[in-house]
Amino acid sequence: MRLAVLKERRAAETRVAATPETVKKLIGLGLSVAVEAGSGLAAGFPDAEYAAAGAEMTADAAGALAGAGIVFKVRAPLAAGEGAVDELALIPRGALVLAQVQADAAMVESYAKAGIDVGAMELLPRITRAQSMDILSSQANLAGYRAVIEGAAAFDRGFPMLMTAAGTIPAAQVFIMGAGVAGLQAIATARRLGGRVTATDVRPAAKEEIKSLGAHFVGYEDDESRAAQTAGGYAKQLSPEFYAKQAEVIAAHIAKQDIVVTTALVQGRRAPTLVTEAMVRSMKPGSVVVDIASDAGGNVALTKPGEQVVTENGVTILGWYNWPARIPAAASALYSRNLLTFLTTFWDKDAKVPKLPADDDIVKGVLLTRGGAVVHPAFAPAKAA
Ligand code: NAI
Repeated sequence: MRLAVLKERRAAETRVAATPETVKKLIGLGLSVAVEAGSGLAAGFPDAEYAAAGAEMTADAAGALAGAGIVFKVRAPLAAGEGAVDELALIPRGALVLAQVQADAAMVESYAKAGIDVGAMELLPRITRAQSMDILSSQANLAGYRAVIEGAAAFDRGFPMLMTAAGTIPAAQVFIMGAGVAGLQAIATARRLGGRVTATDVRPAAKEEIKSLGAHFVGYEDDESRAAQTAGGYAKQLSPEFYAKQAEVIAAHIAKQDIVVTTALVQGRRAPTLVTEAMVRSMKPGSVVVDIASDAGGNVALTKPGEQVVTENGVTILGWYNWPARIPAAASALYSRNLLTFLTTFWDKDAKVPKLPADDDIVKGVLLTRGGAVVHPAFAPAKAA
C-alpha cells in the first residue's frame, strides 16, 4: 500500500506530517511512501533526507497521491477554490486520510462524497492508551515552550535576576493563564529561564500541577470552578458571574507582571477573554503579552490574531497564529510520531493495511467518514436531523 505525504499549503503552516525518521518506520510496516518535493523544507527536512530514508519523491501533489491508500497531512486537504491545488479531488476513493482537519459539517459531507475515510486527529479521546497519539498535547507542549521564548525575546529586560558589578536587574514577573498542556510547559520554561512565575486556571486539578512545577497559584475559586472540568479533561464554559469575579482577582495581579502568557481554551468555543483592555493598559511599558489562544480568537481583548500589536502604553502583544508551526522541526517530529503511532496501533501486520475496528473508542472518536458515509456522532446525519 502506498502512503502519500503532501506539502502543506495553508497559511502560517510550516510543519510536515512525516519526517525522514517516520518515513523509515512507515516503510518498515510494509508501506511504500511517496513524498511531494519540498514537503519538509520549511521544517528543516530536505528532499534528499526523505529520499535517503527510502521515500519516492514526486514533483507535485498529484504524483504523490496517485494510487495512495493512506494520506498523512498536518491540516485538512485543500478543497476546490481554497488554493492552487484541489488536493481533495486528487485523493483516491477509499483512501484513509489522517490530519488535524478541524472540519465543519460541510467539509465532513464533502469527505463522505469523495469516498475517503478521514480521521480527525484533534478529536482523539483523552484516554491513557491514546496519549502517544495525542496531537493536541504534543503540539500544545511545544507552543507553550515557544511562547515563553518569543516573549523573552520581545521583552527588553532580563528574565533571571542578573547581579552584575553595575547593579542588579530584578527577575521578570511571569504570569501564565491556563495551566493545561501548553501552560504547564510555559511555566516550566519560564522557571528555567529564571522568571518568578505565577499561574492560574479554572480546573481544580490544575492548581496542584501549578504548585508541583514550583509556581504560585493566583486565582478565584468557588463551587462553580470546583466542578469546572469535563469528563474529557477539558475546562467547561463558566457563567458570566464567575468570569467577572475571576477578572477582579486577576486585574490586580496583571498590573504587576512583566510577561503574561495566555493559553486558556474551552473546547469547541471561542477562547474566553481573560485580559481586558483595561488590564493591558495597567501594565508597565515594555511588558509583553503572548496569546497562544489566538487561533481561537485570543484570550486578550487587544489581540489581533496573526499579528504583533504594540499598545499606546508600550505593551507588546504577540498574537501569532499557529504557535506550533513557529517551532516546525520539533513540532513535525512529534506530530509525525503521533500519526505513526496511530497507524501502527491499527495496523494489520499480515495484510499490511490499516485495520480500524468500528467499536474501538479511539477509532470512534477520530473517524469522521467511512466507506462514503458520515460516521462520527458529532456529524452523523441522524443527529443533524
Ligand atoms: P485546553 O487547551 O483545552 O485549555 C488550556 C487550559 O485553559 C486548560 O487547562 C483549561 O482549564 C484552561 N482554561 C479554560 N478556561 C479558563 C479560564 N477562564 N481561566 C483560566 N484557565 C482557563 O486544555 P489542554 O491543555 O488540552 O488540557 C487540559 C487537561 O487535559 C490537561 O491538563 C490534562 O489534565 C488533560 N489531558 C489528558 C490527556 C490524556 O489523558 N491523554 C492528554 C492531554 C491532556
